[in-house]
Amino acid sequence: MLIAHTIDDLRQALAPYRRPAFVPTMGNLHDGHIALVEQALPLGDVTVASIFVNRLQFLPHEDFDSYPRTWEADCNRLQAAGCKVLFAPREADLYPEPQTFKVHPDPALADLLEGHFRPGFFTGVATVVMKLFACVLGQSGGTAVFGKKDYQQLLVIRQMVRQFALPITVVAGETCRAPDGLALSSRNGYLSLQERQEAVALSQALRQLAVRWGQQPGVELEKQAMDGLRARGWQPDYLTVRRRVDLQPARAEDAVGTLVVLGAARLGATRLIDNWEF
Ligand code: PAF
Repeated sequence: MLIAHTIDDLRQALAPYRRPAFVPTMGNLHDGHIALVEQALPLGDVTVASIFVNRLQFLPHEDFDSYPRTWEADCNRLQAAGCKVLFAPREADLYPEPQTFKVHPDPALADLLEGHFRPGFFTGVATVVMKLFACVLGQSGGTAVFGKKDYQQLLVIRQMVRQFALPITVVAGETCRAPDGLALSSRNGYLSLQERQEAVALSQALRQLAVRWGQQPGVELEKQAMDGLRARGWQPDYLTVRRRVDLQPARAEDAVGTLVVLGAARLGATRLIDNWEF
């Protein structure tokens, strides 16, 4: 696996290829990331991953500094998965001058849910993804693979690609789960042993909300689901049923098969997100 730190080195490494398949990450790779890399393998003539912890998408009080950085293990896992090129820019390589030019996603999508609780988050994500796309896929276009675990992020990126007519196919990867059902996430590593046992309650609450919504829709179910988590010691930001297409609130007449239930909640100091399509 070739490792490029600078944009020039990356472009040189990719010059012989016509259609890269790209998996952007912030590192601390788990099986979910590796599944995305494996999904990318047949989708291009070279598989590229990036590792870059993007300061722009963290609020000042969030975990940018403590975000787990596991360089050696990440390289080994990517290599073993068949990744051919790793783009790992330092901050000064990707942002050699302050990134004052930013991509502002549509507030109708980006100010909901995660964007409401993490203002500016999707501007940070869209800006870095646009830049990573320019670096990795800017010469010939290609494919980019994003996990459904970050459901709203996936929709924001799809909309950005569509509205800027980028020559990029966005492919969604399914969420990988631990045997008990907890969605894999780099932030699971922050959980204590006891919190880790409790953490599955978020995915259980989402599934239960989906089942109950399927039986008899009603917004009071969302409140009941949040209260249920609160009673177990969680601090939920939202548990809500939305339309998959635009993440607007589901209406009673929306058919099962077009909906997604999304949730974000804090357990101790760790904020977890998850979702479930139904
Ligand atoms: O999903 C992530 O890991 C990040 O938001 C991404 C897409 C790599 C941008 O920093």
